[in-house]
Formats: sequence, structure tokens, C-alpha cells
Amino acid sequence: MQQKIIILDFGSQTTQLIGRRVRELDTFCEILPYNKFPKDDPDVIGVILSGSPFSVYDHEAFKIDLAGIRGKYPVLGICYGAQYMSYVLGGAVEPAGTREYGRANLAWFDQENPLFKGFEDHSQVWMSHGDTITRLPEGFKAIASTDKVQNAAYQAEGEKLWGVQFHPEVFHSVQGTLLLKNFVVDICGSCQNWSAASFVDSTVAELKAQLGDDRVILGLSGGVDSSVAAVLLNKAVGDRLTCIFVDHGMLRKNEFKNVLHDYECLGLNVIGVDASEKFFKDLEGVTDPEQKRKIIGRDFVEVFDAEARKITDAKWLAQGTIYPDRIESLNITGKTIKSHHNVGGLPEEMNLQLCEPLKWLFKDEVRRVGRQLGMPEHLITRHPFPGPGLAVRILGDITREKVRVLQDADDIFIQGLRDWGLYDQVWQAGVILLPVKSVGVMGDERTYERAVALRAVTSTDAMTADWAHLPYDFMAKVSNDIINKVKGVNRVCYDISSKPPSTIEWE
Ligand code: XMP
Repeated sequence: MQQKIIILDFGSQTTQLIGRRVRELDTFCEILPYNKFPKDDPDVIGVILSGSPFSVYDHEAFKIDLAGIRGKYPVLGICYGAQYMSYVLGGAVEPAGTREYGRANLAWFDQENPLFKGFEDHSQVWMSHGDTITRLPEGFKAIASTDKVQNAAYQAEGEKLWGVQFHPEVFHSVQGTLLLKNFVVDICGSCQNWSAASFVDSTVAELKAQLGDDRVILGLSGGVDSSVAAVLLNKAVGDRLTCIFVDHGMLRKNEFKNVLHDYECLGLNVIGVDASEKFFKDLEGVTDPEQKRKIIGRDFVEVFDAEARKITDAKWLAQGTIYPDRIESLNITGKTIKSHHNVGGLPEEMNLQLCEPLKWLFKDEVRRVGRQLGMPEHLITRHPFPGPGLAVRILGDITREKVRVLQDADDIFIQGLRDWGLYDQVWQAGVILLPVKSVGVMGDERTYERAVALRAVTSTDAMTADWAHLPYDFMAKVSNDIINKVKGVNRVCYDISSKPPSTIEWE
């Protein structure tokens, strides 16, 4: 039995974060659309209702029938989830005089309540709501208040049903993880047996049963997700897994060779395809970013398809899709929070069944699984890198010469980050080749050459990002090295834009 917590998603930006926190408690959880509660699933041990962009009294507000869960499982409502239960069970929710946003401290809480076990006085919590519960339903009692919010938390007396109007899942709720632990472990009874080791064991067993003697194909990108998926599958089906790694010519310097070598050391059955000629030819003269992406996506599919067809008896196509990819595409509010960057879909007539062994994992869990599988650290901590590679970091048209210049500059920057111990402090980094030339002076010579921009960001999920505050000494060294060593570049800038409103990539 795989105990699980169900998180019903009412569309909040922090729903995924609730999931991550529950997983950090070594407990499996599933995030489901608010109206998709699974009936009769014996593995469910508790339910969490998320926040929402709506007010409970909005016409379009998401509604559920609480009868399906109340009294059957322990329930915790967070923000909208708390307000919703209060509202439909006879309480009152009204617009707060002023929007309650940001840090607050608990002025009082019920020390006897199991939800607050271990809480300290004045514990800091994070508020983010425009409404507030002004009256609790009959039989409900407040169990915490802040200066401004009287019913900051409540419990239905004699029932395992709680609501909190703050967000325990966000970092600024200092004891938020403790509150979730009190709920998930003490109240719901989680055995906390969801771990990388248990995931590997159970997934390998499931893959063996699912795939039998069938042959499987997987596209490797050099990134952590596809690499971990490959090693996991290799453990389950061995040589019956064939991996295809396509070089479109716009990878980092020596990356194709190095990564291919890593894969071979891991015992993977990999076919490396150098298709750079085709990609460069098709991209000739193309300057529009979307057009570049389309061409690369299309060419990738063609090359992959041609290779895959050589493995005539393949039945499965495996992918390194991870949980956030799927949650985003299932986003229930219909608003696109992040558009999907994955390179185009593979032709349907390939007639392969899809196998996604990492589909339940968050990124940090994928990394833990990778370590559990004994993969080398540099593969596991590798920065994300866009599928179209340096093509979206060369503004304007793409030539082999420009790729060479950018690879050299990028290599100095990335190697520098590693040498200075900064690599793991940034989410991702790279260099952008700008379509401008400027005047410089080298020795006695006037130069008129290219400018590059360095980009390094901190982030937890690429949905928002801040520019990394790298040390000046480091930047001085990198700039010097690039200008001295990379022929064709005489100016280096640093990009100090955050996302939003900018994006991580320039194209
Ligand atoms: P942006 O530029 O939208 O990027 O802030 C967010 C994350 O996605 C990566 N990215 C891509 N990945 N194909 C990919 O596989 C793409 O076309 C693409 N564009 C951006 C980017 O590097 C960052 O990690």
C-alpha cells in the first residue's frame, strides 16, 4: 500500500509547493483538479484543499461537494480551502478591509491543538488573501489569531477538519513545515516511507511488469530528467532500452562528446547522432526566434524518427517528463503560467506507447533518485539548458562561426563558475551573443567586434528568477578572459533583469 495525501487544486500558484512540502515529509501525494477527488481509493490518508485566485463568493469560484471527504478523511483547508469550507458550512467570508498580504505573527494559538504541536509563540506566518472569515460555522472554533485576522486557523469541534488562512507551504511561514508535518504525520498517520530508495525499488518492479520483454526507445538531451529516466529504465530492462542522443550542432562546447561518454560509462545503450549539418542548413538566414524553434523542433523529430524506425521491434517511447510539466499542462484555471518548451511531439504513426517513469517526481526528487542510482554528481546538478540550445542565445541568424564564438565564451563563463565554487549557487547560466558590434582598442589596434552578455539567474523552478549577484572579482576575471581569449569579442555585459518582466533566455 502506498499511502497518499490528496491535494485538491483550486488554482493557486502555491499548490505545487504544498505538494513539494508533503513529499519532503517522505509522504506520497497527488495534486488533482479540485473536482477530481478519487472515490474509493484505499490508499488516501488525508486531503488538503489549496488556495485559489477566486473568492469563495465569486460566480466562477470552484466548488466541491464536501460530503465526499468530510468525516471520511482528515481535511486541511489552506487559504481559499479554509474559507470555502467555512463559507459552505454556514460561516461568513467577506472582503478584508485591506488586503492581507505578507508576514504576520500568530498573536495567539491553541497550544493543545495537534495542528500546532511544537509551535513557538508569535510564530511568523505568510498571509495572502483579499477575503477573511468573519464568522465561523456553528461548532467550529478559532484555534489561532493574528493582530488583524481573528480566525487565522480553525477546527471543526470533534472532527478532523482544520482550516488555516495563512500559507504553511511557503518559506516565510517559519513553522509551516511543522504544521504540515503535524497534519500529515500525526493526524493523517503517514508512515513516511516515500523515499528515493523506495521509489527506485517500486518503479523498477513496476517497469519490469509493465514492459516485460518489450524494447524501449528514449530520447536523451543531456539534461537531468532524461538521464535519470534512462538509468532507471536501464535498471529495469537493460539492453532492451535504446537511447538516442541527437546533436543539433548548438550544444555547449564539447558537450556532445562528454555527455555521450558519461552515458556510456553508465552502461547505457546510446546511439549518438550528429545531425548538425541538417540543422545548420535549415536554419540558414533565419532570424525570428519562434521560427528557429519550429525548425529545430521539426528537424529533431525527423532525425529522431529516422533513428527510432531502425529499431523495428520497439513498442515503447520513454520520456523524462516530470510532475511539474504535467501539473502545468493540467492547470485548471485555464491560464497558461508557463508555456511548454519541450521540443515538438513525435509522429503519432510511430505507434509507440508512452512510458514516463518520473511522472510523479519533482525536480529535487529526480536529483535524489539520480544519486540513489549512483549517477555522477555533475550529471545530476547540471544546469537546465534549452532544447534548441545556443540557437536561442544567438540573436539574429545562426552560423557555425557564431556558434564557435559563443561556445568559447560560454565555456569560459561556466568553467569559471565551477572553479570559483559558484556553479551550484545559480539555477542556470550562459552567454548570449548580441547582434551588435562596438569599437574597442587592443594593443595599438582599433577593433570593431561583437558584444556578449552574461546571464546567470537564481530560481527554484524557472517560473520566476532573479539575476545572480555574482562577485565583481569573478565577473572581472571572466570578462577579461573572454575578451582576451575569444576571437571576435571585445565587450562583455552582465544582464541584470529579473523574471518577470524579462525571461531567462533572450529569445
Ligand atoms: P524562459 O526564457 O521562458 O525560460 O524564462 C524558462 C526555462 O525554460 C528554458 N527554455 C527552454 N527549454 N526549449 C527548452 O527545452 C526552449 O525553447 C526553451 N526556451 C527556454 C530556459 O532555459 C529556462 O530554464
